[in-house]
Amino acid sequence: MKTLAIISQKGGVGKTTLATALAVAAEADGKRTAVFDLDPQASASFWSDTREASTPAVAAVPPSRLGHLLKAAAKTGCDLAIIDAPPFAKDVAYESAQHADFVLIPTRPAVLDIMAMTKTTELVRHHKTPCAVVLTFCPPAGRELADTIETVSAMGVTLCPVRIGQRIAFSRAQQTGQAAQEVEPDGKAAEEIKQLYKYTCIQLNLSDESEKA
Ligand SMILES: Nc1ncnc2c1ncn2[C@@H]1O[C@H](COP(=O)(O)OP(=O)(O)OP(=O)(O)O)[C@@H](O)[C@H]1O
Ligand SMILES: [Mg+2]
Repeated sequence: MKTLAIISQKGGVGKTTLATALAVAAEADGKRTAVFDLDPQASASFWSDTREASTPAVAAVPPSRLGHLLKAAAKTGCDLAIIDAPPFAKDVAYESAQHADFVLIPTRPAVLDIMAMTKTTELVRHHKTPCAVVLTFCPPAGRELADTIETVSAMGVTLCPVRIGQRIAFSRAQQTGQAAQEVEPDGKAAEEIKQLYKYTCIQLNLSDESEKA
């Protein structure tokens, strides 16, 4: 089993959106996938409650039980565990990074978000867990985006080549417990998630059969 953690100490940057969309992509690719919802707000769990489909599995998990429950998931044949970390909680972010094979750090192209991202990156690097910043809520173009890309590169942090745009499909899908690629399979959000899933599989050394289907 591989473990992906989605961590950012900044709130509202798209952690849960990416965790659930990637989990749906992985299930569609034949991977047994479980989302570990570490956030007391339980957004991923609410998303799952609203969802008609029974997969991906989503479990609200107290951070102190994470290590044990990841081991149990691996024993039951889970292929991919995705940790949806809460905002603000440094200790939980720490714990999540410790158990992950790869960490995605969603970041909006804005100054305050970059400051928060720096803190998250330092924390993840402490465990030497490979990580990449993924830009979310991206405008089609503009100075903010270019500045953010330059800043992240100057910090020596890996920047995920896939950018997630600011798209209504992401929030619309969540209202019915779906992922953007399920409500608009041919939309731009779907394409972004497809590419992000592909990138994540490469980082996790996990086979990606989605193209072959
Ligand atoms: N790329 C996007 N474009 C437009 N809206 C988005 C995008 N990503 C997420 N959203 C919306 O923004 C809101 C916050 O997203 P989300 O809950 O995924 O962030 P989060 O980082 O998990 O927040 P929290 O820190 O509170 O856990 C949600 O309403 C979601 O539907
Ligand atoms: Mg969240």
